[in-house]
Amino acid sequence: MTSDFEAAWREREIVARRPDERGLFVALAPMDGVTDWVYRQLLTDLHGGDSGISLCVSEFVRVTHRQVVDRVLLRHCPELTQGGKTRAGVPVFVQILGGDAEPMAATARRAAELGAPGIDINFGCPAKTVNRHDGGATILKCPARVESLTAAVRKAVPEGVAVTVKIRLGWSDAAAVEDIARAAERGGADWLTIHARTRLQLYRPPVDWPALGRARAAISIPVVANGDVDSIPALRACAQASGCAAFMVGRGAMGRPRLFRQLRGHPDPEFDLAWLGELLRQYVVRLTDSGAPPRAALGRLKQWLRLGAPALPELRDLFDATKRICDLDAALDLLSGLPAAPLAKPAVVSPP
Ligand SMILES: Cc1cc2nc3c(=O)[nH]c(=O)nc-3n(C[C@H](O)[C@H](O)[C@H](O)COP(=O)(O)O)c2cc1C
Repeated sequence: MTSDFEAAWREREIVARRPDERGLFVALAPMDGVTDWVYRQLLTDLHGGDSGISLCVSEFVRVTHRQVVDRVLLRHCPELTQGGKTRAGVPVFVQILGGDAEPMAATARRAAELGAPGIDINFGCPAKTVNRHDGGATILKCPARVESLTAAVRKAVPEGVAVTVKIRLGWSDAAAVEDIARAAERGGADWLTIHARTRLQLYRPPVDWPALGRARAAISIPVVANGDVDSIPALRACAQASGCAAFMVGRGAMGRPRLFRQLRGHPDPEFDLAWLGELLRQYVVRLTDSGAPPRAALGRLKQWLRLGAPALPELRDLFDATKRICDLDAALDLLSGLPAAPLAKPAVVSPP
């Protein structure tokens, strides 16, 4: 365990807004089709806004050959109209994805003008259509492009606006992760988030946390560790294997929405399936209130249950139970009827 992590862990009750700030930094990962503003607001509002989440990142905004218009930026990140923060005050970075420096820079500049506190560049998306159109993880094949695209965005936005980069370990293996990390640093990234898998791996095991440590040793900007950090023991194991002291959590938040707060040492005695059912019900209601058609809201609910199941096995049964449900009201009834039986207790928080 490195001293960086020990220091962050000792002060984990302090919500660091950047990985180089005092306290523990734990960001909510961007997930296209999941972490829209409704989801971001729901999670950051937990515990009266004391959710423990350091930072949110928007779903990716695809930048092709021209600057993205305001309407699209505001659709992805309506928080821009409220100072680039969620209602509870958690900053939201706008994530952009593309391979053309000029429109990416122009889009980043405009997002900053609209109030984005930071711009995150997505070089990790594994989707075939995205990669075929020169976006996401395909850029990792050429570290020089990581550098030039990052530099173009850095140059376009004011100094006070953070520019961050999110990558995977590489396209087919992790051999070039140090080169890619150095490229992001040379391009002027404030920090680098790494999902500890390759593009070809998609989401399959194993997650390679030690490779994060190699990247970390190659650069002096912070590395934010991402990939399967879905519990307190997992975070500690990741820190141990990588030396990282800052983290990003995606799917784990769907199984354990209070994980961010638990990580900060708050016990969570009331956590049970009925509580989660009520949260999911609120999610669905807020989605439909914001204009989502019932079918889409039902799809989102099923997706939440499916993606959250690895972190919370009870969600697997719930997912199976909703599989054949086509009616949103029936799904809401199911959520309302969940038992208030306690779930497996979250792991005890002990010092490193
Ligand atoms: C459904 C889904 C959508 C995702 N969309 C994005 C995205 O828009 N931008 C991005 O950088 N990563 C995206 N990711 C990757 C996550 O941010 C994260 O890197 C990955 O899920 C590993 O972290 P986890 O194990 O904590 O979930 C997505 C992942 C999933 C499962």
